[in-house]
Amino acid sequence: MSKEQQLEKSEVLQSLRWEDDALSLLDQRLLPEESIYLRLTTPEQVWEAIRELKVRGAPAIGIAAAYGVVLGVDDFAGSAQDLVAEVERHAEYLATSRPTAVNLFWALDRMKARARDLLQLGSTTTEMVKALLEEAQLIQAEDEATNRLIGEHALTLFKDGMGVLTHCNAGGLATAKYGTALAPFYLALEQGIHLKVFADETRPVLQGARLTAFELQQAGVDVTLICDNMAGHVMSKGWIQAVIVGTDRVAANGDVANKIGTYSVAVLAKAHNIPFYVACPLSTIDLSTPTGADIPIEERHPDEVSFGFGKRTAPQGVAVYNPAFDITPNHLVTAIITEKGIVTAPYDQKLKQLFNN
Ligand code: MRU
Repeated sequence: MSKEQQLEKSEVLQSLRWEDDALSLLDQRLLPEESIYLRLTTPEQVWEAIRELKVRGAPAIGIAAAYGVVLGVDDFAGSAQDLVAEVERHAEYLATSRPTAVNLFWALDRMKARARDLLQLGSTTTEMVKALLEEAQLIQAEDEATNRLIGEHALTLFKDGMGVLTHCNAGGLATAKYGTALAPFYLALEQGIHLKVFADETRPVLQGARLTAFELQQAGVDVTLICDNMAGHVMSKGWIQAVIVGTDRVAANGDVANKIGTYSVAVLAKAHNIPFYVACPLSTIDLSTPTGADIPIEERHPDEVSFGFGKRTAPQGVAVYNPAFDITPNHLVTAIITEKGIVTAPYDQKLKQLFNN
């Protein structure tokens, strides 16, 4: 039987799931044309899938990496002590796949901590391997529940008939389910609240066009795709009453790293007096990173800009700058919506309080 499966159109697309002792992962590079699940059985395959954006979005790459650790130790036959070292080795390796989304490091830290706890508790190697798989599955299940809560809080900010703009993809495809920024749209649909969503296409790799427009359309959400450079125009027409985006890392002062272009949208929102909301789980808030300037910004291959999707769109050899993320300073952020509620400025104090409660 082939290692790849074509999905029936009627099935609900899930970004990833544990199936038959392997990580079954939707290859997001192929969307929206093809829905192919890859069967990953090694940490190296998971590393490559994260690096090449087969799985992407901060929570989803954290979950994938947690399963990557499991795949590295699932047939381990040494001592429990040596198993902890193996978990640490695979976690260090998987942490090199992408630098910006803190959920990756958060999930790997959680797997390492679980392994150390199990050793302390005197677990056998077999018990530890089983418990590590359960931990990865728990990270996935918690993400789904968390996103639903984020959606409930976010929906309190929206009213029937509003136009809402989003950038990149912070939806079900970027998480275990629902997404962060897209969660309120799914909940609105359930509750019969009509929101008109505008999705920026999100150059250079089109997560907005290929993924956000795709998943919202499939769900039956009213979504209109626009090119990134149309956002100011639709705002000036009065069609947008709120912006909501996800994030890869929130610094302790409330500065927000998200997909390149998010900063421009925040500036446009400010110019049009439109609230700019950021939705994320607590696992995306990194109190150990003081400001946005301290967040590492991934730079990706120039071909994404000049030779995207198999077509040359710029002269061969031209200099290209291709940062994957930008920083939106906290003063442009109206509120940060988490599973624990909605936080407004001053962020440095209030984000800390979220973790204390
Ligand atoms: O490069 P990507 O596609 O991984 O970037 C994704 C984003 O920027 C998302 O907005 C962010 O990870 C939040 S996903 C809930």
